Amino acid sequence: MHLTTIEWKPDTPGKPIPGRVRMIDQSRLPEELVYMETADVREVWSAIKALRIRGAPAIGVAGAMGIVTAVQAISADESRDIVHAVQEAADYLGTSRPTAANLFWALERMKRVAAQSAALSPAELKQRLASEAIAIRDEDARMCRAIGEHGVALLEDGFTVLTHCNAGGLATAEYGTALAPVYVAHERGMDIRVFADETRPLLQGSRLTAWELLENGVDVTLICDSVAAQVMKEGRVDCVMVGADRIAANGDTANKIGTYSLALAARAHDIPFYVLAPTSTFDLARKSGDEIPIEHRDANEVICGFGKLTAPLDVKVYAPAFDVTPAELIAAIVCEKGVVRPPFADGLRGIVGS
Ligand code: MRU
Repeated sequence: MHLTTIEWKPDTPGKPIPGRVRMIDQSRLPEELVYMETADVREVWSAIKALRIRGAPAIGVAGAMGIVTAVQAISADESRDIVHAVQEAADYLGTSRPTAANLFWALERMKRVAAQSAALSPAELKQRLASEAIAIRDEDARMCRAIGEHGVALLEDGFTVLTHCNAGGLATAEYGTALAPVYVAHERGMDIRVFADETRPLLQGSRLTAWELLENGVDVTLICDSVAAQVMKEGRVDCVMVGADRIAANGDTANKIGTYSLALAARAHDIPFYVLAPTSTFDLARKSGDEIPIEHRDANEVICGFGKLTAPLDVKVYAPAFDVTPAELIAAIVCEKGVVRPPFADGLRGIVGS
C-alpha cells in the first residue's frame, strides 16, 4: 500500500485547470486517514506551516501546486500579469517554512517556467504551470523509487535500520527517501526491521513513520528518542537512515532536530549513518551547514503539544525544528543518481552535473 501523499485533482478530467490540491492531512494521523482538498493558496500556505503537509519533498510539491491555485484564481488579460502573480505567490509561499530546500527549488522552477513561457496566452500559461506542478510531483515519486533502488545496496538481509522523524512516503509524493530502501528490500523479500524514533515534539516518528511502516507490513519498533543510543549500545542497530531538508555543498545536512545526536551516537558505536535525499534537497550554493536557515517553532508545541500541558506555561522554551549534522559524521549520501561517499564536496558537485 503506497499512498498518494499529494496530487493535483482537476475539476474536469483531462483538463489540468481549474483544479485543486488533494493531500493527506498528516496532522490527523494516526487517528484517522483523511484528505484535505483546497484551491486556495492561503490554505496551502497554512497547511505547510501547520505540518498538515510536511517533509521536504512533499512541501516542494505543495509549493508548486500552491502557485497553480493562485494563478488559476486570477483573471488576467495579459500573460505578464500571470508571471507577476507567480512571483508574488512564490514569495508568499516561501514564507511558510524556511529550511526545506525543496520548497524553494520548486518555487524557483515554477517562476522560471512562467518567465520562459510568457509568450503563451494567459489560458495556455496557466495550463503550462499546472502541467509543471504535476511533473514536479511525478518526478519526485520517480526520484524516491530510484533512491530506494540505490539505497537497498547498503542493506543486508536481517538488518535493523534506525530512522528519525518521517522520511517515508508521507514526506514525499510517494515512497519516501530514508524509508525507500526499506520498502524496496521488503518488496524483494528481505528481512529488514526498523527502529522508529518517536521524534519530539511533533512525533512524526510515532504518528507517521510507525503508522506507514505498519500499513506496509514492515517490522517496526517504536522507541522514545532517548532510547536510540541504548539500542545502538546493545548491538541492535546495523545502520541509521535519515532524510534531509537541505544539504550544503560540503555535505553538512539539515534534518529534523535530534538527527545530529543520532549521528554522534552512531559514530560512537561504529554504525554507518546514511542520508537519503533527492537532488532537489541539495543546496550547493551554501558552502556549509552554517549557512542553512533553521526554522524555530512555537513554544506551545513543546509545552502543550496535542492539547496536554506537559510543562509550566511560562517556562522559557528553545525549539529549533532542525539541526545540522556535520558531513564528517555521514558515511554516504544517497540520491536518485546514486550513492555519494566522502569527500562530499567533489562527489555532490559531480553527481548533480552528471
Ligand atoms: O518538520 P518536518 O516534519 O517537515 O520535518 C521533516 C524531516 O525532517 C524529514 O526528515 C525531511 O524533510 C526529509 S523527508 C523525505
